[in-house]
Amino acid sequence: MTGAQDTALARPLFAALTPEAPDTLLALIGLHAADPRPTKIDVGVGVYRDAAGATPVFAAVKEAEQWLAETQASKSYLGPEGDARYTELLAELALGSGTARSPGIVGLQTPGGTGALRLGAELLARAAPGRSIWVGTPTWANHAPLLGGAGLRVRCHRFFDAARLDLDFPAMMADLEKAAPGDIVLLHGCCHNPTGVSFSRAEWQAIADFCAARGVVPFVDLAYHGLGEALGADVAGVRALVERVPEAIIAYSCDKNFGLYRERVGAIWVKARPGEVEAVRSNLYALARINWSMPPDHGAAVVRTILDSPELRAEWLAELAGMTARIRSLRARLAAGHPRLAPLARQQGMFALLPLDPGAVAALRQEHGIYMAGNGRINIAGLGEATVDRFVAACAPHFGEK
Ligand code: LMR
Repeated sequence: MTGAQDTALARPLFAALTPEAPDTLLALIGLHAADPRPTKIDVGVGVYRDAAGATPVFAAVKEAEQWLAETQASKSYLGPEGDARYTELLAELALGSGTARSPGIVGLQTPGGTGALRLGAELLARAAPGRSIWVGTPTWANHAPLLGGAGLRVRCHRFFDAARLDLDFPAMMADLEKAAPGDIVLLHGCCHNPTGVSFSRAEWQAIADFCAARGVVPFVDLAYHGLGEALGADVAGVRALVERVPEAIIAYSCDKNFGLYRERVGAIWVKARPGEVEAVRSNLYALARINWSMPPDHGAAVVRTILDSPELRAEWLAELAGMTARIRSLRARLAAGHPRLAPLARQQGMFALLPLDPGAVAALRQEHGIYMAGNGRINIAGLGEATVDRFVAACAPHFGEK
C-alpha cells in the first residue's frame, strides 16, 4: 500500500458531508412545545386538532386495535405488498370499485404517503430515467427533494396567484403546454397543501383532456381524502382523471383521515397498459423490497379492520365527518373575519396560505406565540372557536400583497 493510499484511508469518512438544516416545518413541533405562553396558538404541522387542541385516536381505531390485539394470531411476514385486503378495500374507497377492480390497476401498501410517493418516483425513474415531473408552486416542501432525490427532473409550473389567494388555472395550463409527451404532472388529489385551493370538476376534466391528448402521466398525491367536502366528492375529479388516461399513479395516505400519523399507513396504485401490468407489479415489489422490504403492519391492519366491518366503518365515517365539519366551520369564520381572507371560503381542507411574508411569520411567533410555517401556511384545525378572532386580529396588520 502506498503512502497516498494510507492517507486517503485515514481521512474521516463523513467529513465531506454538509450539515443539513433541520426540517423547518417539523421543528415547529418542538418550538411550540417549549413556548410557556398559555395563549400560544399552534397552526404549524398538518395534524388535525379537536376543539380542545388534542389529536385523539379515533374511537373506531381504538376498537379495531382492541379487536386485533385479541384475535391476531401471527405477526409473521406478509411480503413486500403488505396487507393485500387493506390495499383492495382502500382502492375501492379512493378510486371507486370499477377502477379498483380493473385488471390494469396494481396496488400495494406503503409506509405512509411519503413511501408511496417515493416508490412511484423510483418506478418512474426506472422506467424512464431523467423524465421531467411538473410540480405546481407552491407545494408540500417535501415534494421536490423527494421526487428529485429519486432521479426525476423536477420542473415547476404556476399554480397559485398569491395576490388573489386563488388558483391560477390559465397560468398552470399555459405552463403545462411546455410538457413533453411522457412527462409527468404531480397533482394534489384534494385539499391542496399548502394553499387549500381545489380544482372544479370542469378543471379536472380539462386536466384529464390535456393528459390524454399530450400523453402526460398524472401522479396524484391523495393525503387528505375526506377532509375537504366528503369522501365521494373529494375524489370525483381524481376518479374521472384516472378513468380517462391509460397510465397514472396515485399515492395515498391514511395519516389524517384515520388519524394514524405515526403508524405510517399508505398505499400506491399504478394504472398501466394491459401488457405492462406484470412488469409494473414486479418492479414495485422489487423496489419495496430494496427500500423497506415490507411495510409496517399495524396501522394498515387497523384500517383493513375498520373498512371490513360495517359498524366500525360507520363509526369512522361519522368521526371523519365531524372533523371535516369542524374544519369547514373554522374556515368560514376565518374567511368572514377579514376581507383579505374571503377567498378561503372557496377553499378546502386543513390548510390555507395567508398573505404573510417570513418577517411577519417571525413577528407573529415572537409577539403572539403563533406558530405557522415560514411561507404563511396555517393548519386551520389548530384554531378554536375561541382563538379565531384573536388570530385574525394579530395577523391582519401584516397582511400584504405577498
Ligand atoms: C404537513 O404538511 O404539515 C404534513 O404533511 C406533515 C409533513 O410531513 O410535512
